[in-house]
Amino acid sequence: MKLDKKIITIDGPSASGKGVLSSSLANHLNFSLLDSGLLYRAYAYCYESSLDHELALKSFESINFVNASNKYSVNHDGNEITKQLRSESMAKIASKISMMPETRKNLISIQRSFKNDNGLIADGRDMGTVVFPEAAYKIFLTADPETRAKRRFLELQKKGQEVNMRDLIKDIEARDKADTERSLSPLIPASDASIIDTSILDPDQVLSRAIELVC
Ligand code: DC
Repeated sequence: MKLDKKIITIDGPSASGKGVLSSSLANHLNFSLLDSGLLYRAYAYCYESSLDHELALKSFESINFVNASNKYSVNHDGNEITKQLRSESMAKIASKISMMPETRKNLISIQRSFKNDNGLIADGRDMGTVVFPEAAYKIFLTADPETRAKRRFLELQKKGQEVNMRDLIKDIEARDKADTERSLSPLIPASDASIIDTSILDPDQVLSRAIELVC
């Protein structure tokens, strides 16, 4: 397979630091960004009301991703739904719906359509293994569950959402298990991925390591 140097995949479990690294690396390299988790959340939002994949895909056509310096907000039929999509309850629904083969099939070409000549950072769970196996640079982030729960806690608290640390750890572990053990596109590093453990690194240190890997 011919490797594509204009695609960098960043995979890993929730709150491993993918989002922060992806947008900072995209800004550093002037690449565009695919936040595939947000696509799964938006698809879950569309699927929830009908429980039908054909109707979900139709409803997904009314989703608009608005990019401001590689931070996305999302509208559906003109209504802003970003906050709803970023909630823990939507993360749980997205994790469940992402196991359905129809969901993954419906989203793969949409994700691939983000590929462009200027360069793409693809953030997700299966970017390096399934969606962009041709990416020349593949990064897989890890961090222990307590560190990730603490990060998620602070993030949700900042957004004014009520959270409980013990519930968060439980949710993160359950989601890791579901994402890792599902038969379709499980959360695993590609064989050619570089693994960065972010548990004791700050975002600038993670960005520096990533730049060393891709430049
Ligand atoms: O990255 P995130 O927390 O926004 O993703 C929400 C859920 O979407 C995640 O629990 C599993 C699913 N997902 C997926 O299955 N494949 C991806 N490439 C991205 C997300």
